[in-house]
Amino acid sequence: MAKHKLPDELIFIENRRAIQKTTSASMAGKICVVSGATSGVGLSAIQRLARGQAHIVMVCRNLEKAEHIQKEIVSEFNVPVDIVLSDFSDLGSVRKGADILLRNYPRIDVLINSAGLHSTTRIVTQEGFELGLCVNHLAPFLLTHLLLDRLKQSAPARIIQVNSEGHRFGGLDLADLNWEHRPYIGLRGYGASKVAQLLTTWEFADRLKGSGVTINAMHPGDVKTNIGNNNGPLYRWFLHHVTWHTLKDPVISGEALYYLAAALEMADVSGRFFHLTIDERPTPQALDRVAGKQIWRISVKLTGLSEEDD
Ligand SMILES: NC(=O)c1ccc[n+]([C@@H]2O[C@H](COP(=O)([O-])OP(=O)(O)OC[C@H]3O[C@@H](n4cnc5c(N)ncnc54)[C@H](OP(=O)(O)O)[C@@H]3O)[C@@H](O)[C@H]2O)c1
Repeated sequence: MAKHKLPDELIFIENRRAIQKTTSASMAGKICVVSGATSGVGLSAIQRLARGQAHIVMVCRNLEKAEHIQKEIVSEFNVPVDIVLSDFSDLGSVRKGADILLRNYPRIDVLINSAGLHSTTRIVTQEGFELGLCVNHLAPFLLTHLLLDRLKQSAPARIIQVNSEGHRFGGLDLADLNWEHRPYIGLRGYGASKVAQLLTTWEFADRLKGSGVTINAMHPGDVKTNIGNNNGPLYRWFLHHVTWHTLKDPVISGEALYYLAAALEMADVSGRFFHLTIDERPTPQALDRVAGKQIWRISVKLTGLSEEDD
């Protein structure tokens, strides 16, 4: 009997069960900058990259946590692991982190933007941004921009955006990015930040054509991490007693990120969305290139980049 194919919007259900691709390509000596490396998906990525002998640069906000992980990885894999502090809820701090990276690393081979969060309530950063928009979209947008010339000089180089199937929750309103004029709904706020990131990923990919630098986005699987642990007691109770029991080990996220960062067959692939390692079509809102050009310009302005970056 012919297998019934799911509609595009539901194909992620099939991809969740698919056999994922892996690679044993070496990453020896490759400098891999990873945000959100102190937990969950980012942590699993640096563990896998360390096993592939990469030089790890953790971009994170919590020095104590990072130093503990640094010690463990160095002792297990004997690779260099450096720490760069940067708080993604503060664009000034993102700039400082980028300055340190540019000063210390003459080359960057891989940039993985994994830091992220889901908040059920609307929180506003000191700079006036809705927190999810800032951490999930504006901060990695700014960091990527600031490192772009270094990545180009290091070509071939790869950028990977840890995005989410949660982009399908939608919620992006270009006239109300900070949720000032609508009631804030956590999942829609999360979805909006992820749609914004996807739309700008296609813009980055176009601008990077011919540079030897690729950029792709991915969903890291439905994995048991600390995401959501910042929310209220009822949410946390449900997360710990129900949701976590349905989720997988983030080792699958690390393996997928390693594939996207290292596999030879990924060398020239750019501007795509992957469910772990399976190429997948995002929701139509995230493919609207007119909106993409608008959110690009708005993001350039909000992050204080110059007109040449437009
Ligand atoms: N888990 C899933 O099933 C799933 C599904 C889809 C997408 N994702 C995406 O995967 C990415 C990583 O999330 P996760 O699941 O691994 O969650 P996680 O375990 O909570 O890890 C989030 C990471 O982001 C960092 N972070 C959060 N806020 C930050 C800030 N203001 N400045 C700097 N770093 C900050 C955290 O640092 P601390 O350690 O200091 O808290 C941590 O390292 C996110 O982009 C998320 O949207 C996850």
